[in-house]
Amino acid sequence: MNTQELLNTMKRVVRGCGQIILEAEQEQIVANTKTSFRDLVTAYDVRVQEYAIRELSHSFPEACFVAEEKDSVDPGNCSMIFVIDPIDGTANFVHHFRHSCTSIACVVDGKPAAAVVYDPYADELFCAEKGNGAFLNERRLEIPKLSLEQTIVLFGSCPYNMELAEETFGNIRKVFGRCQDIRRSGSAALDLCYVAAGRAGLFFEGVLSVWDYAAGALIVQEAGGECVSMEGTPLIYDRPVKKSCIAGRAEVLEESGLLPR
Ligand code: IPD
Ligand code: CA
Repeated sequence: MNTQELLNTMKRVVRGCGQIILEAEQEQIVANTKTSFRDLVTAYDVRVQEYAIRELSHSFPEACFVAEEKDSVDPGNCSMIFVIDPIDGTANFVHHFRHSCTSIACVVDGKPAAAVVYDPYADELFCAEKGNGAFLNERRLEIPKLSLEQTIVLFGSCPYNMELAEETFGNIRKVFGRCQDIRRSGSAALDLCYVAAGRAGLFFEGVLSVWDYAAGALIVQEAGGECVSMEGTPLIYDRPVKKSCIAGRAEVLEESGLLPR
């Protein structure tokens, strides 16, 4: 498979997703709840996902899909899997917070081969191809060699898993005094891209779904960072799983003290 052609198709599709997201700008968005009152879904999440699956299936009829708003079925031994989060940051989207994105990873032989994350509000397209680097629009990304003290830390609050609140806020308390400041943005996929772009030195969240991290993880790795579970083990990309996640330069991960020694 020509990965350049694959990436170009993924870029076109993710920009199309962004166009749909922007159509909601002037609307009052109606949200329905899923697992709890804070786990939201809108007609836009479904529409964006249907659009992405339709377009990608058209170009890659052999592909399988693991996507947030689809009943999560294990794609088995399918050799090409698109892992899709149609709107990452749905709560931000519902409240017109203007910090959401579409995230798509193409997973081949269990590992992401190509990834795109598009923030339509900022018109920022993050992408990566395995072995060929990460980019923000046309600019190549390389995580700057900063220490924890010289950076901002991003974290996710595990909003759908209240049982993890103590641990999450305990972890952020552990690093708060040793970094410049902390942020909670509401989109894990963009948090990972911001680490790749050097806007933050570290990101962690106690539980994420594969569609939240699959694309961002490759973008971080191709920018020179690491993205692993908080147990320090490799992430899983080819089926609908939930995993903790931590990302940054290896030295910053070590400095954070959040990984087992
Ligand atoms: C959520 C966002 C949020 C993170 C949650 C995710 P969604 O995705 O990425 O930042 O804290 O864990 O589930 O529900 O907006 O697609
Ligand atoms: Ca998500």
